[in-house]
Amino acid sequence: MNSRPDKESPATLSFPSRAVHAGNAVDRGSGAIRTPIVMANSYALPEDPSQVSWSGTDIPLYTRNSGANQLALQDKLAALEEGEDAVALASGVAALHAVFFTHLRSGDHIVVSDVTYEATWRLFAEILPAKYGIEATFVDSSDLAAVGAAIRGNTRLVHVEAIANPTTRVTDVAACARIAHAAGALLVVDSTFTPPPLYRPLADGADLVVHSLTKYINGHGDAMGGAVIGARELIGPIKSEAMVDVGGVISPFNAWLISRGAVTLPLRFTQHLTSARRIAEFLAVDPRVAFVEYPGLSSHPQHELAARQFGGRGFGAMMAFSVNGDPATQNRFVANLRLITSAVSLGHDESLIVHVGTEGPRVAAYPEPFRKWGHLRFSVGLEDPDDLVADLAAALDATFGR
Ligand SMILES: Cc1ncc(COP(=O)(O)O)c(C=O)c1O
Repeated sequence: MNSRPDKESPATLSFPSRAVHAGNAVDRGSGAIRTPIVMANSYALPEDPSQVSWSGTDIPLYTRNSGANQLALQDKLAALEEGEDAVALASGVAALHAVFFTHLRSGDHIVVSDVTYEATWRLFAEILPAKYGIEATFVDSSDLAAVGAAIRGNTRLVHVEAIANPTTRVTDVAACARIAHAAGALLVVDSTFTPPPLYRPLADGADLVVHSLTKYINGHGDAMGGAVIGARELIGPIKSEAMVDVGGVISPFNAWLISRGAVTLPLRFTQHLTSARRIAEFLAVDPRVAFVEYPGLSSHPQHELAARQFGGRGFGAMMAFSVNGDPATQNRFVANLRLITSAVSLGHDESLIVHVGTEGPRVAAYPEPFRKWGHLRFSVGLEDPDDLVADLAAALDATFGR
């Protein structure tokens, strides 16, 4: 769907202008200048529907194939990531599963970072091997020799996160793309922590980029969605197999909310980046803080890679830290925060913090400080950074004394 046939093509516009205009069109029926919410789940057929493909996904037909708001959101996402095509699904996990369901078969092997979002880890550690005979090797993706050594004759896919949830490990995407492609495998990058304009993994050779739209791209904590962006020949099968025939489609209302949220992504993300750096620097020098992992700190193991890979634009707005003390102390510190909210999720307007303990099989791959008292995963929001620093300082005082 070309959303603005009579206007300048989004491809020629700068990033902030694309964020505003891509995927939005004057509504031909009402004349409204914003794409309206279309809740209908079925669309009018032509007089002779014999040429219509019931599995088609490019025109509005039935909302499980593609609805008007989903098509508009996909246009915007493809423009923002500078990919040929995009598919929007019900959640980030639906998007991840759609990639694996479509592009892997029984007997295939995948190389996956040993630090990833929980559900990705579980898919490859437990569900896909047991149910579909897909084998996974988990590697430290910052160790390129380990990534190369994990490749086998039947490796079809390498999966990494540009900045990993939750440790903030940074992976060299261009190098992983070379390793994957030399083996005839696809490189899939979950870029949820690094939305554009901070980073575009496709430009570094990734084949598919996955986002939890629930996070920065929507940015307001009020809708779930997920997306995969890449070449048409890879996205088309995801649409026809995982979307139409498995059915994890995004709702029209969520697609509309996320299109609306994405308009301000460039402005919001600039503030997220500035505030996160300031807060990481504040925490790093406080003796009551045990450790801080943030790619923008020179102490971060992949700081230089991050500076190069993200082109000096920033280092994201996610960090992990802990205060000195056992898990009960971590929880007391969180309870002493007055502005920052204790809740899962990330990338919202509101700052969110969650204490993650030391239980569970995934934790073995985390760096040593994470294994001592657990860690606090902190998503720096859009509040005034002075207020955030004041909240952290007051909670440290309340927990430890001055
Ligand atoms: C890196 C990453 N990928 C994927 C997901 C899953 O997204 P969703 O919660 O929208 O299913 C998350 C959720 O936190 C995430 O952090």
